[in-house]
Amino acid sequence: MLQFSKIEPKAYVGDLLVYLSRQPGKGAPRCASEAVADVVRQVHALGDFSGKEGEHLLFYPGKERHGLPSAKRIMVVGLGKDELNRELFRKAGGAIASLAMKSKVRELLLVLPDLACDRAEMVEGLSEGLVLGAYRFKKYKTQKDPEVSGEMLQQAALYAADNKGLGKALKLAEIAAQSACQARDMANEPASHWTPRDFSEYGRQVAATHGMRCTVLDQARLKKLGLGGILAVNQGSARPPTMVVLEYAGKPEAPTLLLVGKGLTFDSGGISLKPSLGMEEMKYDMCGGAAVLCAMQAVAQAKLKGLNLVAIVPATENLPGPAALKPGDVISQYGGKTVEVINTDAEGRLILADALAYGIKKYKPDMVIDVATLTGAVIIGLGHHRTGLLSNNDDLCGRLLAAGNRSGEPLWRLPLDQEYTKQLKSEIADLKNVGKKDGGAITAASFLKEFVGDTPWAHLDIAGTAWDFTEKSYIPKGPSGIAVRTLFDFIRNWKGEGLSL
Ligand code: BES
Ligand code: ZN
Ligand code: ZN
Repeated sequence: MLQFSKIEPKAYVGDLLVYLSRQPGKGAPRCASEAVADVVRQVHALGDFSGKEGEHLLFYPGKERHGLPSAKRIMVVGLGKDELNRELFRKAGGAIASLAMKSKVRELLLVLPDLACDRAEMVEGLSEGLVLGAYRFKKYKTQKDPEVSGEMLQQAALYAADNKGLGKALKLAEIAAQSACQARDMANEPASHWTPRDFSEYGRQVAATHGMRCTVLDQARLKKLGLGGILAVNQGSARPPTMVVLEYAGKPEAPTLLLVGKGLTFDSGGISLKPSLGMEEMKYDMCGGAAVLCAMQAVAQAKLKGLNLVAIVPATENLPGPAALKPGDVISQYGGKTVEVINTDAEGRLILADALAYGIKKYKPDMVIDVATLTGAVIIGLGHHRTGLLSNNDDLCGRLLAAGNRSGEPLWRLPLDQEYTKQLKSEIADLKNVGKKDGGAITAASFLKEFVGDTPWAHLDIAGTAWDFTEKSYIPKGPSGIAVRTLFDFIRNWKGEGLSL
């Protein structure tokens, strides 16, 4: 969808030509084209446009062009006067995409402004914003979406007189953003159309396309290996569970990172049934699994070399049924720990515990990150802006926090003292799966902690951010694709051979 254009803005005859303008201390915003700047000055004098962030000016040059460029539409988008960083450009890119889609714009040319900032950051931010902001899920619409009156935005080109060295920034941004859109697609699918089997089929397909190894563990294999958590959660479902494993080789001497994603394709709560109001949202309970698979896909596509990767997605539905798991049942997780299941709605930790213990035993990773829509409690604590981060390693946290900030997907670390684990003591088994309500995001992570041993590990609770994420121009309603770009950025910026313990 993205490329650099060789066409001079003045000669461009396409649907939409876009300029970006800072808000000056005084006077009218400036613009690279003198003729467009003239229009801006007029409109500024009327008090209708000052270059504020989020402001835009769209006009139609008409037949008498008065020296204006040849495009059908011309738009000037405000960048405000705050610090120029990737998020600001991302938001501008998102605003341009959604404005373009409100008109009948199929392709556009965006002129890069001459500003004192890191040009690669500018290109990355704008590119990500354009791709993420142009995303819509229309598969099940038989009629045109009234919100998008025109066609979908198909092509966006960037123009810079000198774009030397910027091609890589554009390519990486496009890969990251398209992978996040892929994760959004998976999440938007209803549970009837995105099943555990779809996870393994997708895994096989990306592995074949990008030269990764894919192993799918079916129900019989999960039984044989003793992954009792996944099997227990699956008991009420008519669809078999699956666990998909993807392996990507960076370079032999690099550390290995294990990624684990919660692939609950529908969470009804099971016998501890959820209230029906809003239950349809529980089709999104697979966003962690989607994030992990799509991040792998992005890394493989970009051929990043810094880390070796293993990704595991345990996938099942959680439904009540005649054979369903019941409150009070005792199950045996991979590795032998027993768990008294107090609440069948706390199922994510049961499937993740198996996947974490299995992945660590089999692949001996140097570090582990899991991503899961794990608790309603994290939404109470952090709302819909920051993802919860819980970890046993400060270095890993530092790198993830930085990756989240660079990606516009901020995280917030919550504590994980041993004291919290007390709530999980069971009278009859090694652990129980829930504590009291208080500190629910922390007790959930404390449960997982029992299965990772000393391996450096971080847990991302994305329950508040996987959908209904902070409103931004480049995040349309629905699933956000959260964590795909953060993981991609984390891997891309991996520096140093190891992690400090
Ligand atoms: N999938 C839910 C968590 C969730 C809730 C995600 C709301 C997104 C929005 C998870 O499986 C769950 O049901 N957790 C319970 C745990 C409780 C029973 C200890 C919860 O948070 O209510
Ligand atoms: Zn649940
Ligand atoms: Zn769940």
